[in-house]
Amino acid sequence: MDSEILLNVADYAKAAKAKLPSEVCDYFCGGALDEITLRENAVGWERLKLYYRVLAGVGARDLETIVLGQKISMPIMVAPTAFHRLACESGEIATARAAKNAGTLFILSSLSNTAMEEVFAAAGTPKWFQLYIYKDRSITRDLVQRAEAAGAEAIVLTVDAPGLGTRERDSRNSFRLPEGLTVENLAPVGKGTMPVVEGSGLAAYVHANFKSDLGFDDLDWLCGCTRLPVVVKGVCRGDDAQHSAELGAKAVVVSNHGGRQLDTAPATCEVLPHVVEAAGDRCEIYVDGGIRRGSDVLKAIALGARAVLVGRPILWGLAVGGEQGAANVLEILRRELDEAMLLSGCTTISDIDASLLRP
Ligand code: FNR
Ligand code: LAC
Repeated sequence: MDSEILLNVADYAKAAKAKLPSEVCDYFCGGALDEITLRENAVGWERLKLYYRVLAGVGARDLETIVLGQKISMPIMVAPTAFHRLACESGEIATARAAKNAGTLFILSSLSNTAMEEVFAAAGTPKWFQLYIYKDRSITRDLVQRAEAAGAEAIVLTVDAPGLGTRERDSRNSFRLPEGLTVENLAPVGKGTMPVVEGSGLAAYVHANFKSDLGFDDLDWLCGCTRLPVVVKGVCRGDDAQHSAELGAKAVVVSNHGGRQLDTAPATCEVLPHVVEAAGDRCEIYVDGGIRRGSDVLKAIALGARAVLVGRPILWGLAVGGEQGAANVLEILRRELDEAMLLSGCTTISDIDASLLRP
């Protein structure tokens, strides 16, 4: 990290790949099956072209926005991703601190290598907890109650993983957590370790533990069992977004899990306008998948998203430089978004409108 100049997210990706053990790199970077959706997510943003405004008298930009009533310094939030201690020693603590210093939202995965109480104590505001629904309802309820007690301000229910999409890289590597790392939040209930199997240990863990017949009744149950707002993550269609909002979801994340679940699902930039049309007046809408430049963020907002989430770029930052690396990645994206706003004629986030993509 010292000698190289890392200018952008792609530089961080490259440096992370050079540094990480290959099976960890495959787990972080890979996607389901042929990785078509994985590629399309990023390519989708690249393909969109910006019809910038000139002579708009843009002064100092203001990137602040509000998600579920809470101010964040920019519309770029940290997606929930599993197992940060595979990236660096301090793992999720490093990520939480980087998000806090950037003044943005941190979403902690159920599948962290550090207990949520410890991570949330290090995190700023807002902080949300991502939930996977376990077959055992009492385990799930316990996770929600612990998250509430630890200061989480929303529950992000991930709905696109009733099972794990097959990641062939992980199958070949027989991917599992190394000795010494656990699924820490679940360790107290005896679900902290992955089975030793041929193929992906994570896939076997998900198969054994996650509720595979996930339904709208589960969303309904969750909305009734927590006082926190519920965000539904992993939506690919307008009707599902609408139904989620009707049952009480306060926000949805248009996401295909970064191309890690159903391969050949459409790029999220293609889905987003449909979801905005179907549910944009009922709940907040965020998007993730393939956001690699600040201009991608601007495009997502132009398509109607309130904010974006970034997954892998944060993992690459952590792998390269721990807390500072993750912080650098967030600052790169902030700087790029700021520049894209200046050059497209936008002073505030609310100036970013659909005409930038279709004049
Ligand atoms: C994820 N993602 C994810 N999502 C979730 O709800 N819970 C989780 O535990 C994880 N774990 C996870 C691990 C890794 C290694 C990756 C790359 C992704 C999905 C994540 O929240 C997000 O949807 C995608 O990462 C967004 O795509 P990009 O930004 O990585 O392209
Ligand atoms: C993943 C799961 C754990 O994408 O969400 O690896």
